Amino acid sequence: METAKTVLITGASGGIGNELAKLFARDHHNLILVARSADRLTQVANELQANGVTVKAVALDLSQPLAPKFLFDQLQCENIAVDILINNAGFGAFGEFATMPDEQIFGQINLNIIALTQLTKLFLPAMVQRRSGRIMNVASTAGFQPGPLMAVYYATKAYVISFSEAIANELANSGVTVTCFCPGATHTGFATRAGNDKSRLFKQLGAMSAERVALDGYRAVMEGRTLAISGAQNWLVAQSTRFGPRKLVTAISRWVTETPKE
Ligand SMILES: NC(=O)c1ccc[n+]([C@@H]2O[C@H](COP(=O)([O-])OP(=O)(O)OC[C@H]3O[C@@H](n4cnc5c(N)ncnc54)[C@H](OP(=O)(O)O)[C@@H]3O)[C@@H](O)[C@H]2O)c1
Repeated sequence: METAKTVLITGASGGIGNELAKLFARDHHNLILVARSADRLTQVANELQANGVTVKAVALDLSQPLAPKFLFDQLQCENIAVDILINNAGFGAFGEFATMPDEQIFGQINLNIIALTQLTKLFLPAMVQRRSGRIMNVASTAGFQPGPLMAVYYATKAYVISFSEAIANELANSGVTVTCFCPGATHTGFATRAGNDKSRLFKQLGAMSAERVALDGYRAVMEGRTLAISGAQNWLVAQSTRFGPRKLVTAISRWVTETPKE
């Protein structure tokens, strides 16, 4: 077992991030948890402290441009070094791009891409200097193909995959590992917030439990794997998109995202 580390998890108030936090706490790692809802974070922190670990809750909207630097500065002031960074916070919005409110479009880009990149840039240099550290960026199987009706979300996750694999390569032999973790459909608050919980993907094709997905992610980051896809079925689908004609892959992607007529 690894010695106790300090782990920063974004989006830890619910869903996959919350389950990841439980796994790190179980293995005696100290935690810094970030999300917007202060009450829920405090509740999660209190529960996890029962494992005898230190848990710091920081309520922050990471889609605000200054939030990642604010978080970094606060931890610097308190002399807290982050050993493991889990960039998990993210959201998707369902609807046609032409009519999607700007707030949703740029909210996704700000959280899923910009905050993730900022946090990586802020915490990575100290890890490189220490020749030790782990970063896990939570992407999605959505990142392997275009996603009509969730065009921006799918594109943000394609960025996360490409970015993570590229910097993992740059950091080979640095002592720092970068893991891109790709869940498929997972039972969390995600689909309801996205507005597509009645889609074929979530209603008919089946979603995994957040506990199971988090366990896959936990193993992947601790093993320092570069790319990990949660679930055998999701792995197969991600492979198949590489060989099918792009137009067909895009059409199937749309079909899966649509809500079937009753
Ligand atoms: N569920 C799926 O089907 C699925 C599939 C593939 C990939 N993923 C990815 O997995 C990650 C976790 O998703 P999930 O399914 O666990 O979703 P979730 O249940 O909706 O949880 C999202 C977490 O992110 C936090 N969050 C949202 N907006 C935030 C913001 N602006 N600033 C700070 N924190 C914010 C939420 O807390 P607050 O609301 O309190 O801020 C919550 O803790 C995301 O990156 C998602 O894209 C999910």
